[in-house]
Amino acid sequence: MKPEDFDFIAKFIKDRSGLVLTSDKSYLLESRLMPIARKRGLKGLDELIGTVRASRDEALGREITEAMTTNESFFFRDSKPFDQFKDMVLPHILKVRAAKKSFRIWCAASSSGQEPYSLAMILKEEQSKLAGWKIDIVGTDISTEMLEKAKAGVYSQFEVQRGLPITLLVKYFKKKDEVWQIDAAIRAMVQYREWNLLTDLKALGQFDVVFCRNVLIYFDQPTKTRVLGNIAGLMPDDGFLYLGGAETVLGISDKFKPIPNQRGIYGINKDPAPQAPPGFAAKT
Ligand SMILES: C[S@@+](CC[C@H](N)C(=O)[O-])C[C@H]1O[C@@H](n2cnc3c(N)ncnc32)[C@H](O)[C@@H]1O
Repeated sequence: MKPEDFDFIAKFIKDRSGLVLTSDKSYLLESRLMPIARKRGLKGLDELIGTVRASRDEALGREITEAMTTNESFFFRDSKPFDQFKDMVLPHILKVRAAKKSFRIWCAASSSGQEPYSLAMILKEEQSKLAGWKIDIVGTDISTEMLEKAKAGVYSQFEVQRGLPITLLVKYFKKKDEVWQIDAAIRAMVQYREWNLLTDLKALGQFDVVFCRNVLIYFDQPTKTRVLGNIAGLMPDDGFLYLGGAETVLGISDKFKPIPNQRGIYGINKDPAPQAPPGFAAKT
């Protein structure tokens, strides 16, 4: 691939999704975009990129962007955050929202649904404490293909073997031929919406708990800062943010601060350092 074609398509993908494609990952373009080229009867990537350059084909742009996303997910991923949610965050919320009897959870890059469904199963298991409560779980993703999979709630044997305790598999899934479908009651607990984290998030409403796990790793630092700032704008001062194991707010956003002794969970930083006006160095 010509370097100018690589630069063009990398910028195209980054502008649309935030995903950064460095030149050492150009093999990913080959493996993920060739099927799109073939489907359209184009000879190869050169011709596909030429078509993108020449046309304003929104559907093609979307298909290319989606193809470049990494959608890996599994139930109760890393287990600890979900234990923390059940044992610490949920009891805390039940106390501080007792008057309102409602709270909202957002999975900001929900992929194929394992993360929101893990939370839904936890809430179902705790339902005796939740009588009369209104709880929203919203799952959003840029990938329509993943959202469709999430809504269907159908998983392969391999997928249900990754992280899902056998007791929950037996309790909440039904086997249909070679695949497993999560119960309609659990599916009904999650609303899915297509949403790009780079766009205005306000219409999603406020969230007490946000899981934004394993997506910021694909963004550059200014994009991470911007997205974290926008997420903070949707959270009350006592909200909780969960990031993935390889992600942090430290050095990236002063809108959040780590919750002491709770790895991967952040609270709103009510007292961020004042920003120096442009052109002025911050005081030390
Ligand atoms: C690796 S998955 C993470 C899934 C889940 N949060 C987890 O930790 O298991 C990353 C997801 O982020 C989504 N994604 C990438 N860029 C996005 C963007 N700009 N807006 C919304 N979702 C995005 C991808 O489509 C993908 O499904």
